[in-house]
Amino acid sequence: MMDNRPIGFLDSGVGGLTVARELMRQLPHEEIVYIGDSARAPYGPRPAEQIREYTWQLVHFLLTKDVKMIVFACNTATAVAWEEVKEALDIPVLGVILPGASAAIKATKSGKVGVLGTSMTIQSDIYRQKIQALSPETDVSSLACPKFAPLVESNSYQSSLAKKVVYETLGGLKGKVDTLVLGCTHYPLLRPIIQNVMGQEVKLIDSGAECARDISVLLNYFEINRSRTAEKTGHKFYTTASPAAFRDIAESWLDRTIDVERVTL
Ligand code: DGL
Repeated sequence: MMDNRPIGFLDSGVGGLTVARELMRQLPHEEIVYIGDSARAPYGPRPAEQIREYTWQLVHFLLTKDVKMIVFACNTATAVAWEEVKEALDIPVLGVILPGASAAIKATKSGKVGVLGTSMTIQSDIYRQKIQALSPETDVSSLACPKFAPLVESNSYQSSLAKKVVYETLGGLKGKVDTLVLGCTHYPLLRPIIQNVMGQEVKLIDSGAECARDISVLLNYFEINRSRTAEKTGHKFYTTASPAAFRDIAESWLDRTIDVERVTL
């Protein structure tokens, strides 16, 4: 069996592009419909009830695009609403947290894992819970990095301000963990700076890349891969803010030209 419909991706903004990029690399035949809510990003500092409401709006938008699967390419939305959306829909819904948690357990040698995330993700304590449910001995140090996602949304993730902010935020974690989960899909854009501050010996876990591997497993399991001979319609990107600003970040990160349209939810 095959299913040629696209895979839906949602995020508060451009962060989910880190997951989309991995999917394009790992499964080049699949097509993506992406919605980023940049007009209301960051989600991290918002109350859970509001994140839940916004996430449902993104889900309903993707359902109008006839997607065969939805990927929560946002840790914050996963922490707040993934369980209930997954229960409510009859298509597979994948989050980024479980794949990241398992990868961290696999990678750590010292048993000391750090987790970076938005205020909501860290406050939810979900990474610690998922990691320790699988591996109770693993020590988890969690750190909220509320300044990181805005640096990425404003396309200043390579700036000297970004270096300063990352250095000041992560200074205290250096030397304490051998594995660090980038528990927000915006953070892989800051990866070179984070790696530099933490030291080359620290293993960084990109929850998005881990998630792309799980998408592949689910497509196989449900036998809903896209046929290699299906006609290409192209990936489609939607943003709630400026398409030009979205395109700037997306085209450089994905290294291709893309089709972006503005939507109101
Ligand atoms: N990209 C998101 C995440 O993975 C959220 C960033 C934000 O909007 O605060 O958590």
